[in-house]
Amino acid sequence: MSGTTFSGTEICQELDRLAASGMNLDDLLSRAVGLLHEAHPRFHWTGIYELFPDNTLRLGPFIGAPTDHVFISVGEGVCGSAVAEKCDKNVPDVSKEPNYLACSSATRSELVILIRKGDAIFAQVDIDSHELDAFDPQTQREVSKVAQWLAGAYAASGAGASG
Ligand code: SME
Repeated sequence: MSGTTFSGTEICQELDRLAASGMNLDDLLSRAVGLLHEAHPRFHWTGIYELFPDNTLRLGPFIGAPTDHVFISVGEGVCGSAVAEKCDKNVPDVSKEPNYLACSSATRSELVILIRKGDAIFAQVDIDSHELDAFDPQTQREVSKVAQWLAGAYAASGAGASG
């Protein structure tokens, strides 16, 4: 487990500045992915899946290797299970997770944080690492701050939410 940490609050402050300058939601999502990806050396794939009303997650902005999993049904994989169970997922060893969809053979652990307001789920932040057990509780908390900020941006944009 790495002792490296980063500040989700600082990322949110940067997103505040960008939103105040009039940046739209799609560009804010891309910037959030970029800021998160750069924030931690163990983040090897960082992306956002958006939830659509047909109960499908669709890949939005991401940084890392291209993935075949552009569409994921609710309930499928770690990403779809997070939505079905309405809870974040921290998988320390993906080889021990039966409901795992492999994007890259290099991935060892995965973190999924829902972008939600209560039961209304807009999207999720998905981060893969080549290290086992890459996401300590502090890291998870900092990513959650950014996800919470993005939930506010979705709500402010009038985007629909599934819940
Ligand atoms: N591993 C995910 C699929 C998405 S990729 O990691 C980018 C899952 O099991 O749902």
